[in-house]
Amino acid sequence: MADIVEAKYIWKNGTLIPWAEATTHVLSHALHYGTAVFEGIRCYQTETGSAVFRLRDHMKRFLSSARMINMELPYRHEELVEAALETIRSNGFASCYIRPIAYRGYGAVGVNPRSAPIDVAIAVWPWDAYLGDTALAEGIAVGISSWRQRSVNATPGAIKSSASYLNSGLANMEAQDHGYGEAVLLNELGYVAEGSGENIFTVRDGIVATPPLSDGILAGLTRDSVMQIARDLGYTVLEKSLVRTDLYQADEVFFTGTAAELTPINSVDHRAIGKPGPITLKLQGRFFAAATGRLSEYAEWLDVV
Ligand SMILES: Cc1ncc(COP(=O)(O)O)c(C=O)c1O
Repeated sequence: MADIVEAKYIWKNGTLIPWAEATTHVLSHALHYGTAVFEGIRCYQTETGSAVFRLRDHMKRFLSSARMINMELPYRHEELVEAALETIRSNGFASCYIRPIAYRGYGAVGVNPRSAPIDVAIAVWPWDAYLGDTALAEGIAVGISSWRQRSVNATPGAIKSSASYLNSGLANMEAQDHGYGEAVLLNELGYVAEGSGENIFTVRDGIVATPPLSDGILAGLTRDSVMQIARDLGYTVLEKSLVRTDLYQADEVFFTGTAAELTPINSVDHRAIGKPGPITLKLQGRFFAAATGRLSEYAEWLDVV
C-alpha cells in the first residue's frame, strides 16, 4: 500500500486551500469520537479526458451516511459533485483517488456532537493498485478474521463512518500479521460479510454470488457495477448469505471496491482457489473498460472532469 502523495489543493468548506493548510484542531470532535463520514472515489483517464466513476452515486451515499449520523451537510448533492470535479481540475491529475470527508469539528468535548460545527473537505491524490502491484493480475491470499464485522446495531456497515474503520483496521492489521493480503470478516451471525475495505463475490458452477446488504455490509458501488455487468453478460447473480465454506468451495472468489477495483482472491485460509478464473477475468476486463470509458452502455457511470 502506497503512502500518500501530496497534491496542491484541498477543497475545504467551500474553497480550495493549499494542501498543507488543510488542518484541524486536536480537539475536533471526530478525532475523539469517530463522528465523521467519508467516501472513496476514483477518477480514471479515458480517451476523451479524465472521468470520475459513479461520482453522483458516491455523493448520494456520502449525504446518506451523514444524515444517518444526524449530520445535515451544508451542501447540496450538485454542489458536492461540482466541488469534487473542481478539486481534480485544480490539481491537474489525469487519474486519481478522491476522498470527501465530513466531520464534526472543534466545539464540543462530550459524546453528543450536536454543538460541534460540521466541516466538509475533499482531497485528491494519485493512488495505484490498493492491494499491491501483482494483486489485480495474480490475486491475493485472504484469511477469515478473528474480528467480527461491525454490528448493524452498533456502528452499522451501511454507514461509511470513520468510527467503523477501527474495525477494518484491526482486521487488516491482523491479516497482514498472518501473512495474508487482506481479511474477510464474518458478521455476528457467522455469515461472510466483506473485506476490510471491499465487498466479496464467489463464482460456483457459473453462478455469481455476493452477500446481501442485510448481512451488514457497505452497499459498494463497485459491487453494484459488477453485479450489473455480470447480469448484462448473462450470468445469474445471487445476493445470498454465504458461509466460510462457500468461500473454500468456490471455483472463483474476488473482491470489489473503489480502492481494490476488482481483485481476484487466490486462497482463503490457505485453501487454494487457484489462479484468477475465467469469469473473474471477464468481469475485471469489463469493469476496467466501463471505468475508462470504453463501453458506451455504461457511459452514464462517468462524469467528465
Ligand atoms: C468496508 C467496505 N466495503 C466495501 C467497500 C466497497 O465499496 P465501493 O465499491 O463503493 O468503493 C469499501 C470501500 O469503500 C469498504 O470500505
